[in-house]
Amino acid sequence: MMIDVFKDKNVMIIGASSGIGEQTARLVNQYGGKTILISRNIDKLCEIKNELGEKSCCAYEMDISDLNNIGLKIASIISETGPLDGLVYSAGVSRFTPIAQAKPEIMQNVFNTNFFGFVECVRQVSRKGRFNPGLRVVGVSSVSSFHGNKARIAYCSSKAAMNSAVQCMALELSKKGICVNAVAPSLTNTNMFKAWLENSDENAEAVNNLLSRQYLGVAEPLDIANAIVYLLSPQARFITGITLPVDGGATTS
Ligand SMILES: NC(=O)c1ccc[n+]([C@@H]2O[C@H](COP(=O)([O-])OP(=O)(O)OC[C@H]3O[C@@H](n4cnc5c(N)ncnc54)[C@H](OP(=O)(O)O)[C@@H]3O)[C@@H](O)[C@H]2O)c1
Repeated sequence: MMIDVFKDKNVMIIGASSGIGEQTARLVNQYGGKTILISRNIDKLCEIKNELGEKSCCAYEMDISDLNNIGLKIASIISETGPLDGLVYSAGVSRFTPIAQAKPEIMQNVFNTNFFGFVECVRQVSRKGRFNPGLRVVGVSSVSSFHGNKARIAYCSSKAAMNSAVQCMALELSKKGICVNAVAPSLTNTNMFKAWLENSDENAEAVNNLLSRQYLGVAEPLDIANAIVYLLSPQARFITGITLPVDGGATTS
């Protein structure tokens, strides 16, 4: 990919303070883009901004699960940054939810961040004047959206909902020239994965099970960021409505 492929392009990254979102921000920056970093942890975002350079990076605090606030926040951010060329939605939470604990408020909580926040962000950025021609949207889903996992009803179903929304939004937004896709990572070496490992023996068993199918081992955030950046790039012009597994073989067995 050309080193200045994102020159003069504005890419908003929701969930940019760590893991896959942070790595994507670094890569977009490396390829010449301007990054708009968003998450709840403004201190961490400012650290990244200072490292990447204030000219090509800005940071905003936002709790994406506060759904009624997204519209005002995004309108105000875009009035400062200018219209977007890319939106990456990497914010996500994983929660232990065996069926007995999957109460509506717990399901709602996970869906707010993993699903409703995504749809609301796309709804907001696809409004007139908020995007440049050829806007690319990339959601971060999961291979967990493709198959059942023990005690993960909320997480898996929220990611499956994202995949379906990607197909619907890609169809509807094609008339505006907007492409909407997702990537589906398997186990990736981030804070979320580490927290999962530390949680319980039951998780360790689940991780070993998943890893036995993930032939290439645990992914690094850069492996996923590379796929996201490809989907944001002009080279992916003809791709829309897909959820691309980036999974070291996990979905092939
Ligand atoms: N790691 C894996 O094995 C794996 C596998 C498949 C899919 N994924 C998906 O990859 C995405 C990124 O996760 P990660 O692995 O990179 O984990 P991570 O390092 O824990 O990153 C999660 C990101 O989500 C942000 N976030 C969470 N809740 C938020 C909220 N309410 N408002 C705004 N931002 C919020 C966090 O920012 P703040 O805490 O600063 O708000 C952080 O930047 C997630 O959607 C996850 O489901 C991960």
